[in-house]
Amino acid sequence: MKIVRTIAEMRAAVAGLRHQGRSLGLVPTMGALHDGHISLVRAAKTACDAVAVTLFVNPTQFAPNEDFSKYPRTFEADCRLLEAEKVDLLFAPDTAEMYPDGATTWVSVEQIEDRLDGVSRPGHFRGVSTVVADLFHIVAPDKAFFGQKDAAQVAILRRMVRDLHFNLELIVCPIVREPDGLAMSSRNRYLSAGDRRHALVLSRALRAVEAQVQAGRTDAAPLIETGLRILAEEPSVRVDYFRIVDPDTLEDRPHVRDGALVAVAAFVGPARLIDNLLISAL
Ligand code: PAF
Repeated sequence: MKIVRTIAEMRAAVAGLRHQGRSLGLVPTMGALHDGHISLVRAAKTACDAVAVTLFVNPTQFAPNEDFSKYPRTFEADCRLLEAEKVDLLFAPDTAEMYPDGATTWVSVEQIEDRLDGVSRPGHFRGVSTVVADLFHIVAPDKAFFGQKDAAQVAILRRMVRDLHFNLELIVCPIVREPDGLAMSSRNRYLSAGDRRHALVLSRALRAVEAQVQAGRTDAAPLIETGLRILAEEPSVRVDYFRIVDPDTLEDRPHVRDGALVAVAAFVGPARLIDNLLISAL
């Protein structure tokens, strides 16, 4: 695996792969890799001739009161995992490389970026869409791979790709869970053993809603009540939102008959965790 730090080197390395006629898959990450990321790498390996991973803890998607400085940074371990997956290129720039002095250009996916996580994390999605647009320009992949766990991010990036005519296919891979149901996340590293147990309430709430949908209940209000009731079983877990929305616009849905995204965010100990369930049209 070739590790590159500068945009110029990355462009040259990509040009080399293209010269060999190879298709290219991109997996953007902030490192602290887990099996969820590895599932994206494997999907990229299956779909493309060559795979590039980016590792950049993007400061513009963190608010000043958030965990940018303590976000886990595990570069050596990440490299070992990616080597084992036979990734071709790892692009790991520093902040000065990605944001030249005085950078003032933003990519904003208006309206959608203010929904779901955008409500309690204002500016977060503007940081995500800006850095991902930049990475798409630098790497110019054929396909880019993201996890369904970040469902709002997926909606925003899909819209961005459509609106700005990026010449790539955005591929969304299923949530990877621990055997007990906890959705994998780099932020799970923040959890104590007790927090870890309490965090299971998120997937339990989603499963309860899923069971009700399977039993024929489709109105959003009682389904949300069910989810919130289960979440209340863990008083130490502070709910940020539990909503049923359109997976593309992130607007509230009155029922799930045409398909819907059931999404939850909650604070568990020092971590803000998210999880979701995609219900297909019934
Ligand atoms: O999902 C993430 O890890 C980040 O939001 C991303 C897409 C790498 C942009 O920094």
